[in-house]
Amino acid sequence: MVKIGIVTGSTRDARLNGQVAEYVLQKAQNLNIEGAEFEIVDIKDYDLPIFNEAMPPAMANKQYEGEENQRWSEKIDSLDGYIYITPEYNKAVSPALKNALDYLGSEWSDKAAGIVGYGSTLGVAATLNLRTILSNMNVATVGPFGAFNLFTDFEEMTTFRPAEVHNATIQAVIETTVNWSKGLKSIRG
Ligand SMILES: Cc1cc2nc3c(=O)[nH]c(=O)nc-3n(C[C@H](O)[C@H](O)[C@H](O)COP(=O)(O)O)c2cc1C
Repeated sequence: MVKIGIVTGSTRDARLNGQVAEYVLQKAQNLNIEGAEFEIVDIKDYDLPIFNEAMPPAMANKQYEGEENQRWSEKIDSLDGYIYITPEYNKAVSPALKNALDYLGSEWSDKAAGIVGYGSTLGVAATLNLRTILSNMNVATVGPFGAFNLFTDFEEMTTFRPAEVHNATIQAVIETTVNWSKGLKSIRG
């Protein structure tokens, strides 16, 4: 069994992120993939302040000063793979997502990740930015990625109504993330 976390990438009160995350969760559950469970992991629920730990997380051995980060660490550590739902802010991931990523070290490592981006330019720059960040944490990002258009996949830039054309790609993101997560589980011991 692999547990896949669908990780939100925005904490704005008016964020569109939750709609995209729910859509990916529904799609994943409808695929009825054997040996895989999915859940939304909302970074907003962890209320992480701007990173201020004394020790770089890569050297912290999963022991942190703050209560919020300890809770965040335990959640991320309990998962076998991730699907990140990322908006694009000035050609990168949001500061909230980068902050949440920076908080942890080996909790992320030797796992697989899929990326679903969105934005006025499809979130492609944010997706590439996220791939670079994740590679530094030994996370294997799968090839297919979601790229939703703020102007055509969201009615009035508010309500998520994804075009049919995305179906096959999102399915590939989910299935490949599950397969790679199963494979990578064997090397974590
Ligand atoms: C500060 C800021 C910068 C943005 N920069 C980009 C950008 O570089 N490229 C892009 O495609 N969209 C950009 N956008 C549009 C966002 O992708 C869009 O507002 C999206 O809804 C944000 O995600 P959220 O609603 O989940 O927070 C930007 C939005 C904000 C608030």
